[in-house]
Amino acid sequence: MKILGIETSCDETAASVYTTEHGVVSNVLFSQVELQKLYGGVVPEIASRSHLEKIAPITQEALETAGISLDEIDAIAVTNKPGLPGSLLVGVCFAKALAFAKNKKIIGINHLEGHVYSACIENKVVFPSLVLTASGGHTSLYLVRGYGDYDVLGTTLDDAAGEAFDKIAKLMNVPYPGGPLLEELARQVSFQDFYSYPHPKDKSLNFSFSGLKTAVLYDLVAKGAYDLPTKKFLAHDNISLKQQVASSLHHAVARQFEKRLSYALSLHAEVKSICFVGGVVCNAFLRSRLANLAVAHFLPFFYPSRQYCTDNAAMIAFVGHYKAQQGLFDDLSVDIY
Ligand code: KG4
Ligand code: ZN
Repeated sequence: MKILGIETSCDETAASVYTTEHGVVSNVLFSQVELQKLYGGVVPEIASRSHLEKIAPITQEALETAGISLDEIDAIAVTNKPGLPGSLLVGVCFAKALAFAKNKKIIGINHLEGHVYSACIENKVVFPSLVLTASGGHTSLYLVRGYGDYDVLGTTLDDAAGEAFDKIAKLMNVPYPGGPLLEELARQVSFQDFYSYPHPKDKSLNFSFSGLKTAVLYDLVAKGAYDLPTKKFLAHDNISLKQQVASSLHHAVARQFEKRLSYALSLHAEVKSICFVGGVVCNAFLRSRLANLAVAHFLPFFYPSRQYCTDNAAMIAFVGHYKAQQGLFDDLSVDIY
């Protein structure tokens, strides 16, 4: 079986081909990060216009790299939820047009399901697995029993973990996306915990990161480094302050992850592995904290390689592949949600 995957839910235009025989045979991506950097976040209008420009050439490149023609494709898997409506529409309309013109089957894919199974692309993940997804748009905990068989145990009540990194970076004039740059700053001070920022103390499987952002904001105000009325960072040249905030932030996020996962493990003794997926997995410090947690519970720990952590179409093609094998197709009325 040969599946073409298409992903346009946010600010990456991506296409990939996945085959039963060889797995991922192409994974092509255009990131709008340079376009969106100017605005310190994703501007939906710019995102959808850019998708419209890139979707055809990116898809063509994915097919060419795979050495597979559109005629040979069995089904087109396209992200149809959740995401920016204008961006999702570009991918879904493009996929529907291809499916109609070439008489192909189509499958609408939940972007989050793509992330959930992204660790399975390269690893033989043991189920049931406790899967933590952490990216710029979502932070959730799943109990995954098999392919397409999962429950959401908890989700973020406000900001996502990556969003917390990005927003705190923005407070200190660190450019978007803040995550990788804050990790770099934290590494320069050996990931020490300077300020012991708080994490939610309640027993819950849900996440919350907006309180952390507020705690950092008021800490910067108290240190005379941020002016609330004008919303201006006043310590742009104070590298050591940025390093210390960035480093302490890592510990607060790690503590919350560990607390939620430990609680989930205490409720679900059947869990046989832990997966960590999504853009935030690029963070080596957080990854090692969760790897240690898995070791402490005698569980194997899986995470995707970098290309499958951030938004990509290979994870969409992968989910499309098992759905096609399960006979779970949509028709041309497939819409965005
Ligand atoms: O999965 P992704 O590409 O897009 C979404 O679906 O959101 O994740 C992007 C997010 C951004 O918030 C970015 O700051 C965060 O992942 N991120 C990181 C790191 N690399 C990317 N956060 C912390 N440390 C990193 N090294
Ligand atoms: Zn994502």
